Amino acid sequence: MSDGLEDVVAAHTTLSDVDGGAGRLVIRGRSLDDLAGRMAFEEMVTLMLGGLLPGLPSGTALSAALGAARTALFPIVLRMPLPANLSPVEALRAWTALIPDGEDAGTALTLLAAPAVFTAAAVRRARGLEPIAPNAGLSQAADTLRMLRGDRPSAAEAAALDAYLVTVADHGLNASTFAARVVASTRAGLVSAELAGISALKGPLHGGAPGPVIDMLDAIGEPGDARAWLEAALDRGERLMGFGHRVYRVRDPRADALKAALRRLGADSKRLALAEAVEQAALAILRERKPNRPLDTNVEFYTALLLEALGFPPEAFTCVFAMGRTIGWLAHAQEQIAGGRLIRPQSVYVGPRPMQAA
Ligand code: COA
Repeated sequence: MSDGLEDVVAAHTTLSDVDGGAGRLVIRGRSLDDLAGRMAFEEMVTLMLGGLLPGLPSGTALSAALGAARTALFPIVLRMPLPANLSPVEALRAWTALIPDGEDAGTALTLLAAPAVFTAAAVRRARGLEPIAPNAGLSQAADTLRMLRGDRPSAAEAAALDAYLVTVADHGLNASTFAARVVASTRAGLVSAELAGISALKGPLHGGAPGPVIDMLDAIGEPGDARAWLEAALDRGERLMGFGHRVYRVRDPRADALKAALRRLGADSKRLALAEAVEQAALAILRERKPNRPLDTNVEFYTALLLEALGFPPEAFTCVFAMGRTIGWLAHAQEQIAGGRLIRPQSVYVGPRPMQAA
């Protein structure tokens, strides 16, 4: 028995390895530094899913297939209005649930394309704007930004989004990937596995943290106010969003990959200076208050700044995370299906027993 399944090994995988002590992430045999900022979403799909999904195209054929899948999905957002009180990630989940289930390459392509169309449409709907139809000739990253904002993004902006999507594509047996593998192991299908992944990701302890990072930066306002604000938050018993990790005992290497992407983008230097001041103050305070628990910056901290710089509203950050992580969910689901065993652990019953007859 291990609370939170900490340190429990539940799968063999060829997909990714998280070294929490050294702060290293290896994906398909390559270091994160060798991937982030060097390849596009489409190339990451091929790296992760190649060999796991028979019939999946690659190169320009993959880009064209994703474009066609985005176009085929667009009528869903026009014909299926959702309740106005759904958050963007809830809208993403609701629209995704309308895709017929399957375990084939076509279903996977549809799921890879879906967050681009559904995220942009959910954000625009919430702003009272009409959704913008996909442009099948663009890359997934460029088309996502175009559908979101209405203008064609610069090459640097599309590259920054690609760097983000590649950085978050896979990360060992995190909560949402485990959820996706559990569902895939029942042979329910890739759409069901994706829905399990989205549902687990949306929690603030997993992929829902970067929105609150923006709230924190906005509430702090000035670098000089960071320490007092952070101390007060911890005094109220709150956790500092963007810090701490179940596996990393050092800095999350994805934080540096995203900070580098922000610098390449030439993002707002005042905002970056505020973030750096908050980060330094948070690390110092966490070291003072939790001397026995190494707590360092995680992926969510610079995710918030990068996605903000690209024009995503904080409430949609988790949807963009889902777009990148869909690559990992699908690869793990396929690996689980190929391995073939139903995931079914045991629990220790600690409740009352029926009274024994005297
Ligand atoms: N701020 C303040 N204290 C934190 C903290 C944070 N961000 N993260 C962990 N801690 C503290 C806990 O309060 C706990 O202290 P205690 O032992 O005195 O009670 C200790 O560190 C261990 O925390 P624990 O809950 O066992 O760690 P975990 O492995 O279950 O949690 C996270 C990992 C990511 C859920 C946790 O670090 C967290 O909530 N971070 C903030 C949310 C976030 O950024 N999530 C994105 C993750 S990529």
